[in-house]
Amino acid sequence: MFVGDLIYLLLTTSHKHLTNIMLGRWLVLTILPCLAIFLFFFFFNLHMNSPLMVVSNNAITLKNPPRRQAQFSLLIGILTRPDAYDRRHFLRLIYGIQSSPIADIDIKFVFCNLTKDDQRVLIALEILRFDDIIILNCTENMNSGKTYTYFSSLPRILSHSYDYVMKADDDVFLRLVPLAASLDPLPRIDLYYGFVIPCNSLNPFVEYMSGMGFILSWDLVEWIAESSIPANDTHGPEDKLVGKWLKMGKKAKNRFSNKPAMYDYPGTNGRCSHELIADTVAVHRLKRWDQWLAALKFFNVTKGLEPSKLYNI
Ligand SMILES: *[C@@H]1O[C@H](CO)[C@@H](O)[C@H](O)[C@H]1NC(C)=O
Ligand SMILES: *[C@@H]1O[C@H](CO)[C@@H](O)[C@H](O)[C@H]1NC(C)=O
Ligand SMILES: *[C@@H]1O[C@H](CO)[C@@H](O)[C@H](O)[C@H]1NC(C)=O
Ligand SMILES: *[C@@H]1O[C@H](CO)[C@@H](O)[C@H](O)[C@H]1NC(C)=O
Repeated sequence: MFVGDLIYLLLTTSHKHLTNIMLGRWLVLTILPCLAIFLFFFFFNLHMNSPLMVVSNNAITLKNPPRRQAQFSLLIGILTRPDAYDRRHFLRLIYGIQSSPIADIDIKFVFCNLTKDDQRVLIALEILRFDDIIILNCTENMNSGKTYTYFSSLPRILSHSYDYVMKADDDVFLRLVPLAASLDPLPRIDLYYGFVIPCNSLNPFVEYMSGMGFILSWDLVEWIAESSIPANDTHGPEDKLVGKWLKMGKKAKNRFSNKPAMYDYPGTNGRCSHELIADTVAVHRLKRWDQWLAALKFFNVTKGLEPSKLYNI
């Protein structure tokens, strides 16, 4: 635009003197502000999403060994209560330090409607900071279909689907690397994965998976949302109901009970318990601090801590 103006100015001005004055003024008034604006946008763009930054990011990535691409995605919904602030804080630490190279894993805390004014402030703060909370349209403490509401709401409220969805308790310790490794070779559809009840059973096709933590493939989550079978049968022991729905709907042809990798903490639940073992996926019934600490110690969870002048642990 200003090149055109310049040519126009030169062609239409007959006196050299006049041209010089006008050109000088034009330079100051037009070119310099244009230059300033141009430079501003150039550097602003550079800062926001510049090609140079992408290049340097790539350079950093290349120094590391190539990461295996995620093979599947998993949503883990930890069903808990709004007032369990301390438990959420602790579980954020437990899961914040874990990741699997083969799975994109999202962890969310799931509960029913808030009931108190302090919750509306404190949980809003948690959401602003962590964005890891799902509040379902249901009422707490009534054994009245929270698990149903959880699965049946997901296709409607999530912005994208997952390959698998897990329901987990807030007193279970999940080890994400072995969990993902155990899912990787399994079918992505019509899958029901967990710890089969009764405790001593090894046949996942008879009863149901324990509520400590079970996984459904996304097609089954959609089925729960759409079918009248679960909708008509939401009151009762929640994990048992899921097994019943799937049986009635002739669903979950693919089942996997992960024993002995999933179990209740030693001494807490008869034949569902056994000693801690190295290849653990899930330890359940961690109700007390001494139990959590023993588990974290056994699995070397804090062994990776680097020495530092800043602390001495
Ligand atoms: C929440 O659940 C209640 C009772 O089940 C229902 O009447 C209401 O329409 C639901 N609200 C929303 C936003 O889904
Ligand atoms: C949950 O809260 C919403 C909004 O406050 C309300 O519309 C709904 O009826 C509540 N649902 C239940 C089951 O209490
Ligand atoms: C729902 O349950 C009622 C009572 O148990 C039964 O009569 C009805 O046939 C069921 N409907 C469906 C679609 O399963
Ligand atoms: C924890 O570390 C110890 C010592 O390095 C090792 O012997 C043990 O096998 C590790 N435990 C697990 C569960 O990986």
